[in-house]
Amino acid sequence: MSALTLVLACHSEVPFTAEERARLLQLSPSVLPAPPRDASNRFAGDARAAALGQKLFFDAGFSGPLLDGDNDGGATALGVRGEAGKVSCAGCHVPSAGFLDDRSRGKQISLAAGWNLRRTPSLLDVGQARLLMWDGRRDSLHSQPFGPIENPNEMNASRLYAAERIFSRYRAEYEPIFGPLPPLDDTSRFPPLEAHSAGCDRPIRGAPACHGKPGDGAEYDSMSAADQDAVTRVVINLGKAIAAYERLLSCGQGRFDAFLHGDSSAMTASEQRGARLFVGKAQCVRCHSGPFLSDQQFHNVGLLPRTVAAVFTDANDRGAGLGLAAALADPLNVRGKYSDGDDGRLPDAVPPGAEGAFRTPTLRCVARRPSFLHTAQLRTLAEVVAFFDRGGDRAGYAGTSEIAPLGLAADEQQDLVAFLLTLEGPGPAAALLR
Ligand code: HEC
Ligand code: HEC
Repeated sequence: MSALTLVLACHSEVPFTAEERARLLQLSPSVLPAPPRDASNRFAGDARAAALGQKLFFDAGFSGPLLDGDNDGGATALGVRGEAGKVSCAGCHVPSAGFLDDRSRGKQISLAAGWNLRRTPSLLDVGQARLLMWDGRRDSLHSQPFGPIENPNEMNASRLYAAERIFSRYRAEYEPIFGPLPPLDDTSRFPPLEAHSAGCDRPIRGAPACHGKPGDGAEYDSMSAADQDAVTRVVINLGKAIAAYERLLSCGQGRFDAFLHGDSSAMTASEQRGARLFVGKAQCVRCHSGPFLSDQQFHNVGLLPRTVAAVFTDANDRGAGLGLAAALADPLNVRGKYSDGDDGRLPDAVPPGAEGAFRTPTLRCVARRPSFLHTAQLRTLAEVVAFFDRGGDRAGYAGTSEIAPLGLAADEQQDLVAFLLTLEGPGPAAALLR
């Protein structure tokens, strides 16, 4: 026994070797790092932008009509089918739930204007990520809002609708930060929009036939290229403000960190054994590495998608195989004209292994999540650990799995779950939750 092990043994029931302790300290530096500088957004650290972004995050007025008939006005829906102005970012990224969705029926996937096929991820510590979404489809926090704003299953609106709302409601806050807005009240250049539910009179699943979307393709296409560009820039700035806010959202340190930094009573023996397994025999740290327990890379863990919320499966989700290709082709990406700089976060081509791969989720505050994996098909952390223990599913998923069976005993699996619970943190300050 080395001297270091001896010293540690006095403080903990399960002494870590010096090597184990060094590995654990990689997961728990004494101070968690702030989000890295974002070259693509020069407002990323601007407090005024963050304050505006926080308001925008909670504003349901950017959304068009609800489409799916499951929008019945009950507690699990955001309103009644046909109603506009019901979906904010916070409608799915619920602040009191760690910015994920514990509101939709089944607590698996999200019902907004329609149902979404992948689980809504937590936004805690999202500022640490470079490539976003489960599949890498977006490469910046500031371009990401175009997704929900324009997606008929999320906010069912458009960039023109969003820009006009910035003009009518947020001009006084926007202009001191981002400069003058284009004359969005000039109806000869920018078609005035109103959300309406025209034609949406039958139940719809998936891609809606009648969408009542304010600012649909025809209205946008009627504008000059210069005005389209001006509208896009306003929504990019909306995104830069929201990004500045999102960078403030963090889970924070928990019992695991307290234990490693001196409080030997902060973890039980089972939790300590779990920590050892995490960096050792169970190999979790291969992907769940660094202070947020994610390498932020894309991995294929051999998941056969199953039906969730009674109806939905995306049986052949190619993950990063398609997502990274979409990010590379995106005119809004960090290499494009709307970015303030490119720090090389995008690969030059879709890497081998991206097929069927998804981004490693962070594990801080993981216990708050009501369901797990991009499909939301697992309901408990014990099921997730059992999934990794059996080396994933045998077949039926896209691409080639990177994992193999681990051969963990039942009590070892319990220890790993116990360890994951020590990653709970205080979450963001209350002032950021409203
Ligand atoms: C329908 C519910 C819904 C709404 C509304 C919504 N989101 Fe999301 N959000 C999701 C889902 C689902 C994903 C993951 C989708 C995927 O990866 O394919 C996601 C992903 C994200 C991500 C990437 C997180 C990560 O770790 O990669 C960010 C950031 C985000 N949303 C921010 C926002 C913002 C800002 C808004 C408002 C403009 C918003 N979301 C509105 C459901 C929603
Ligand atoms: C090869 C890389 C890799 C290894 C090894 C790995 N994970 Fe993961 N983990 C992932 C990826 C990728 C996902 C998301 C997969 C998906 O959603 O399709 C994930 C998801 C999870 C989730 C669900 C989080 C959420 O928000 O849905 C938990 C919990 C988790 N892993 C814990 C572990 C534990 C514990 C181990 C060790 C037994 C482990 N992982 C090993 C890559 C890995």
